[in-house]
Amino acid sequence: MKSRIPVRASRGLAVGALMLLFLLGSWNASAVEAQTPPEASPTFAEHVAPILYESCATCHQPNGIGPMPLLSYDDARRWAPRIKRKVQSRAMPPWHLDQTIGIQAYKNDISLSDSEINAIVRWVDAGAPEGDPAKLPSLPELPDGSEWQLAKELGPPDFVIEAPPLTVPANDQDQWWVQTTPFEGVIDEPRYVKATELKGSYPLGVRVLHHGHVTLGWQQEGRRVSRPLGRQGIGKGGDLFPDNTGMLIQPSGSLNWNLHYFPIDEEVVDERSTAAVWLHPKGYVPEYETIGEQRFTADRGGDMPWAGDIAIPPHSIKVQQGTHVLKRPALIQSFRPHMHMRGREQSVEAIYPDGRREMLAKVDKYNHFWQISYEFEDDKAPLLPTGTVLLITTLWDNTADNPVNPDPRQWVVFGQRGVDEMSHVWLGMTYLTEEQFKRLSAERNRMAARDDR
Ligand code: HEC
Repeated sequence: MKSRIPVRASRGLAVGALMLLFLLGSWNASAVEAQTPPEASPTFAEHVAPILYESCATCHQPNGIGPMPLLSYDDARRWAPRIKRKVQSRAMPPWHLDQTIGIQAYKNDISLSDSEINAIVRWVDAGAPEGDPAKLPSLPELPDGSEWQLAKELGPPDFVIEAPPLTVPANDQDQWWVQTTPFEGVIDEPRYVKATELKGSYPLGVRVLHHGHVTLGWQQEGRRVSRPLGRQGIGKGGDLFPDNTGMLIQPSGSLNWNLHYFPIDEEVVDERSTAAVWLHPKGYVPEYETIGEQRFTADRGGDMPWAGDIAIPPHSIKVQQGTHVLKRPALIQSFRPHMHMRGREQSVEAIYPDGRREMLAKVDKYNHFWQISYEFEDDKAPLLPTGTVLLITTLWDNTADNPVNPDPRQWVVFGQRGVDEMSHVWLGMTYLTEEQFKRLSAERNRMAARDDR
């Protein structure tokens, strides 16, 4: 799976401009309409394959996490009706954000443009024609699942840590693997982390690990401080912090592994999840210190670790909200919603000290299979003053309309299993000093003024 897929906004614009030219062209040509042939339907070779290669092939290939390859014409034709349904509903590629509200600038946006969806739909409706095979683009370069995805950008990691082995049975309930291992002798002084990536081993481990965390904890001034050295979920890549940003870690302490495995109908022997860490150079002190992805809950109105007050009646839609008041200014790098099978929507809004309210990001097509982290573009990442209230809203659908609901007749309460519920978001947090906040706000205002000119 590709973890950082370049945003294709510029291509989307180009396609949009072409469409416009096309429309203008056909307007001018209306006088000679009788002579122009009817609009030809898209073909696989010329129009559809480029979209599948760019937006689907990373997962839909023999070694990818997609259930079937979508590389050849035969693959695509066989799946054509299902492809149409999945792209039209925007379930595929997996990008479950509500694209009508909130911030829309993300580093890892893999969603299709309206014109790409339109091309696929028209192709399927026309009977999925192959077209001229000579026009097929060459097959894309496929990611190697055994390699660190961030290594392409960053080179080999500075160190790698490994969880104790666990054999995951072929068929059983979810498996939780909670272990503590020492962290000694890996680094010899406090260092700033630049990026982290956690994954199961290749090829079976990446499929059997549903999500997981490894955190480094140490004692500092009488309390335990902990920082994530890897968080993984299906559809989530590594965490690369923005420029000038690092996460400070100490050279000793212990590693807490919290790994959630889903049996895959095949025994996975001695599976070891592994995390890679990239460091800033020795002696380098970044301008901003992040604490990585942190959990904010939507229950009991605060930071209670467990959502003891979740109780969803049978056949019902239920909404729950929680708030968190920022005691310092903050910059939020990423948003990753987390609910279980009844989860449908989740959002984070900011209520500013002056009372203004702004939707930051909202997912309206949540699917528990996916744990996608939506990574804001650096210059669009929420920049929030002290006193901002983060309002987290969760919507569960415990009705029969929810296609993944295992049983709408049940009451649902908090719990670890997929059939129980949870309600929290993971936010990539960088707390700022008031000075830093002022400087960044001024920069943003200058940029906005320039864009207005
Ligand atoms: C990040 C990996 C990933 C990408 C990118 C991706 N898929 Fe998928 N796709 C999956 C996985 C995993 C599943 C099975 C789970 C699910 O349905 O959510 C799936 C399911 C599907 C299904 C349903 C298969 C079935 O059994 O019903 C279709 C159709 C599909 N994808 C088409 C596409 C198309 C078309 C694209 C590109 C436009 C695409 N996918 C992009 C991973 C991916």
